[in-house]
Amino acid sequence: MLVHVLGSAAGGGFPQWNCNCANCAGVRTGSIRTKARTQSSLALSDGGGRWLLVNASPDVRAQIAACPVLQPGTPVRATGIAAVLLMDAQIDHVTGLLSLREGRALTVLCSAPVREDLSVGLPLFPVLGHYLDLNVVPLPDHGTAFVVAGIPRLRLRTVALASKAPPYSPHRDDPHPGDNLGLVAEDAVSGRRLFYAPGLGAVDGAVAHELAQADIALIDGTCWHDDELARAGITGPKRARQMGHLPLAGAGGMLEQLARFPRPRKILIHINNTNPILDEDSPERRELDRLGIEVAEDGMELAL
Ligand code: MLT
Ligand code: MN
Ligand code: ZN
Repeated sequence: MLVHVLGSAAGGGFPQWNCNCANCAGVRTGSIRTKARTQSSLALSDGGGRWLLVNASPDVRAQIAACPVLQPGTPVRATGIAAVLLMDAQIDHVTGLLSLREGRALTVLCSAPVREDLSVGLPLFPVLGHYLDLNVVPLPDHGTAFVVAGIPRLRLRTVALASKAPPYSPHRDDPHPGDNLGLVAEDAVSGRRLFYAPGLGAVDGAVAHELAQADIALIDGTCWHDDELARAGITGPKRARQMGHLPLAGAGGMLEQLARFPRPRKILIHINNTNPILDEDSPERRELDRLGIEVAEDGMELAL
């Protein structure tokens, strides 16, 4: 299995257009050691040349341009993207679908609640149907393995996660299974396993089971502190937990949770621009180094 990290930032990207927090200002002026990042998305392949796009971020056009394997070059209109799999209906994970409208056809796999959100609250599906042949494929029940046409050697499975539906969704404060998913991708030949969970509010039994068995965990690293936006001086902000993201630090936080699972290589993704770990010289980043936890960056490639 090949994994390309197309984007590694949370909603807003890094730097965010209207943000002058220490990180955003620092990356703009070059005064801190860091790298700019686009909004989170992965491309997965079994080595056969076809790719599964996991989430379609608003930055997808630039992400495809930066990842030449997604553009094979012939015939006159072509793509290496076989299908798009959505982990939730959040704006930073779905609005890139609009930038794929020039295709002839598009296959999108998603849960029933995500399909509802993208049909009613944010009606991307009815809109896209006017541009191309849109094939929305319901995901099988959580835990049931499936494959995507064109990528037969990747065994896929979803895991229902405790997180948050988007602010526009009727499920925002009324969670339903399938509002937020994690993805388990196993290479049918090597048997090696990736667990991807960019929006994770709690490590419950199902998530613990996956973390115990994964070879690589690409996992929610949105915020260091629960009140990180307020600490950055941003007024009226929500806390990380209210947005469905378990903060990294503190009692019961993601770092404490991850320490229970020695097996996987641990890589944080969906990093918010306010997170001190983006500064490679920060004490928080040194703490991650000490724990053996990595921070995803755009262009990162993994092989399993
Ligand atoms: C989230 O992950 O909580 C959302 O992407 C936030 C947002 O849409 O700005
Ligand atoms: Mn997000
Ligand atoms: Zn910022």
